[in-house]
Amino acid sequence: MARTGAAPSISDREQTGPAPGAPGSPRPGGLGGRLMRRKPVDRLVAEGGHGDGGELKRSLGMWQLTMISIGATLGTGIFVVLGEAVPKAGPAVVISFVIAGFTALFSALSYAELAGSIPVSGSSYSYTYATMGEFIAWLCGWCLILEYGVSVAAVAVGWGQYLNELLDGTIGVTIPDAFANPPGEGGGVVNFPALLVVLLAMAFLLRGARESARVNTVMVVVKIASLVLFCAVAFTGIRAGNFRPLMPLGMAGVSAAGATLFFSYIGFDAASTAGEEAKNPKRDMPRAIILSLGIVTVLYCLVALVAVGAMPWQQFNNADAALAQILRQVTGQSFWAVLLAAGAVIAIASVVLTVLYGQTRILFSMSRDGLVPKIFSKVDPKTGTPRANTVIVSLFCGVLAALVPLGELANATSIGTLFAFALVNVAVIILRRTRPDLPRTFRVAFSPVTPAIGFLLCGWMMTSLGAETWKWFGIWMAGGLVLYFTYGMRRSQLAREEV
Ligand code: ALA
Repeated sequence: MARTGAAPSISDREQTGPAPGAPGSPRPGGLGGRLMRRKPVDRLVAEGGHGDGGELKRSLGMWQLTMISIGATLGTGIFVVLGEAVPKAGPAVVISFVIAGFTALFSALSYAELAGSIPVSGSSYSYTYATMGEFIAWLCGWCLILEYGVSVAAVAVGWGQYLNELLDGTIGVTIPDAFANPPGEGGGVVNFPALLVVLLAMAFLLRGARESARVNTVMVVVKIASLVLFCAVAFTGIRAGNFRPLMPLGMAGVSAAGATLFFSYIGFDAASTAGEEAKNPKRDMPRAIILSLGIVTVLYCLVALVAVGAMPWQQFNNADAALAQILRQVTGQSFWAVLLAAGAVIAIASVVLTVLYGQTRILFSMSRDGLVPKIFSKVDPKTGTPRANTVIVSLFCGVLAALVPLGELANATSIGTLFAFALVNVAVIILRRTRPDLPRTFRVAFSPVTPAIGFLLCGWMMTSLGAETWKWFGIWMAGGLVLYFTYGMRRSQLAREEV
């Protein structure tokens, strides 16, 4: 950064944090100073798009960014997790969707402000690097691997269930248990469908962001159409009696279901991983994030309303493919259920594609900062994509999905995401103080109250997740600490510049 010798500018203040030697400020060379070194916003933005050996291509418009966020959001949550939430909340599951959506909304506003002012590909990882320093940024990036990488594997497993439903309904064949489950679950040896869907997504991603976005747009249209179709067909089966009693297990059941259903909103932030491939990121990313959350919330509430209206809540009973079951009951034919299963297969595949995309771009940013190996930021000059990164991440997620029973680690996805969301809310408050001058294409109203509420809502949701989930989250974070202190802290770009 150019220094004029005059009084420090606002961005100088941002770079150095509190004046060295000020009471309570960390010593620059000491451990505290190293953990809290921040990357200035201007530098994050200036480095955007540049990788090792080439540049990412800017090819995505507002519509495609919105589709990326919807693609990453709408999937297993509505097609699979709904069946687990209704037994907790009863017909009031619609209220649970509203509660979870409300929590997501506060964080979405914060994402929108930061995506419009720091338009890079690292999402919340980059926002925390600019505001809270390297150590917290690393923890955030490590949590994003739960939100993106581990959830790709978990979502890919759900894909296999619907694929079997589809194969059964169309050609009367199902994949044998040995090849449809990981070892240690239901007699499984390898979860072949899960591996297959991840490899298919990899093939698209290697062709380019624009090509992947096109395929994703088609898949998103199909999945929205299949949910609208569900509403139209199941609507005829709604019985007023099914809504009584509204809250059979009380408000506690409704909020527990809300925490479970938060999973279905994860992904609206995916557009913020495309900052370096968007044509006009500052204008389009905030719009895409808010628009996608709005569309998804309306769809979820409609589908939930029709679902509990058409089938008594007691019958959900953790059903695997609840929506397909409802259509079968209402129409007395399996045709509609098979059609819905086809929609779900496409819907979940698009979650795998877009979430895998997000994971590669987050690692791309972390690699450029030196916190993970350089191979993750190598760009293929022909396709303008991080090729090696895409192959490594896909193989990692594919093998994880095929061979590891993810169980509780997959549940830790929500807790990791909530942790990252909480940090984004804090980042908005900090950046308003450290960079009031920064041009913002979207501003959260009533800051700092609104982001503070967003932060508290995330914390509250985290506390309503079970002890087992917290245990796995603790194990995950401990692994992250070991990696940071043995690798990232010494190798980061900022650490090298200090030498
Ligand atoms: N929200 C994504 C889904 O429901 C993770 O599949």
